[in-house]
Amino acid sequence: MAVRHFLSLLDCSPRELRDIIGRAIEMKARQLELAESAPFNNRVLAMIFEKASTRTRVSFEAGMAQLGGHAMYLSPQGTQLGRGEPIEDSARVISSMVDIVMIRTFGHDIVERFAANSKVPVINGLTDYVHPCQLLADMQTYREYRGDIQGCTVAWVGDGNNMCHSYINAARQFDFELRIACPPGYEPDSGLVAANQSRVAISNDARAAVTGANLVVTDVWASMGQEQEQHAREQAFAGFKVSSDLMSNAARDALVMHCLPAHRGEEIDSEIIDAEDSVIWDEAENRLHAQKALMEFLLEAH
Ligand code: CP
Ligand code: NVA
Repeated sequence: MAVRHFLSLLDCSPRELRDIIGRAIEMKARQLELAESAPFNNRVLAMIFEKASTRTRVSFEAGMAQLGGHAMYLSPQGTQLGRGEPIEDSARVISSMVDIVMIRTFGHDIVERFAANSKVPVINGLTDYVHPCQLLADMQTYREYRGDIQGCTVAWVGDGNNMCHSYINAARQFDFELRIACPPGYEPDSGLVAANQSRVAISNDARAAVTGANLVVTDVWASMGQEQEQHAREQAFAGFKVSSDLMSNAARDALVMHCLPAHRGEEIDSEIIDAEDSVIWDEAENRLHAQKALMEFLLEAH
């Protein structure tokens, strides 16, 4: 059987994505029982981090350990990757010794080149282009609180970044309407938008995008690698903050999501994150459950 990778949401069919999320919900409910049976016994996950992480690292490492497997943290500084060993050679070697690999890096081509030379499944733990694991957790969270997202309206407020791109892919795979509001010059990839124009609309009007939305999502204005643009972006994104005022336009029971880490008071107000009915903490925790289900799916398909 050909090795399955998870470099973007498009690597799975809509049906497979729904099944992975259903399994994640089941695994969450049966955590202790599953840990007893140690289904990942003797399985090793290599995690390559070329960027910082809290949630992705902790969720993959804890998930592997809880199911009886082992996770190995690899950084460019601590490996020959940082000294210029080609990604293709690294992929051949690493994938000859472990069962599954997760990579967080800059260029999306790096995960593609690794996967093309890997004998085992490769998971994208975030690139500059997409962040598909986060979408599994977000879609799980929506399903847990509101049921099927098909036919719903989602508003993306902020940067047309990797998370925004994954929401565009999610609109396609989970069949919802996505309204993106971003400042001029910060739009998502035009080719990706064009390929999904039946479900995706772009504007510079956050209020209009949020009006009647069932789910409102945002993310930092300056992503990892864009730190030097922080000040310019603060100016450009004024008016794109998710606040109670903005949320008063959304559907009455609208959910708010943020992948975290957040810049409180910038792209989102603290009172939204800390609200009694906030789902943002469940969204973060669901990274653990969704990725356990994803790893099970990929290891079984292998
Ligand atoms: N949301 C997310 O991926 O968080 P980390 O950068 O902490 O992994
Ligand atoms: N867009 C953010 C997401 C962090 C999880 C970044 O790439 O830094």
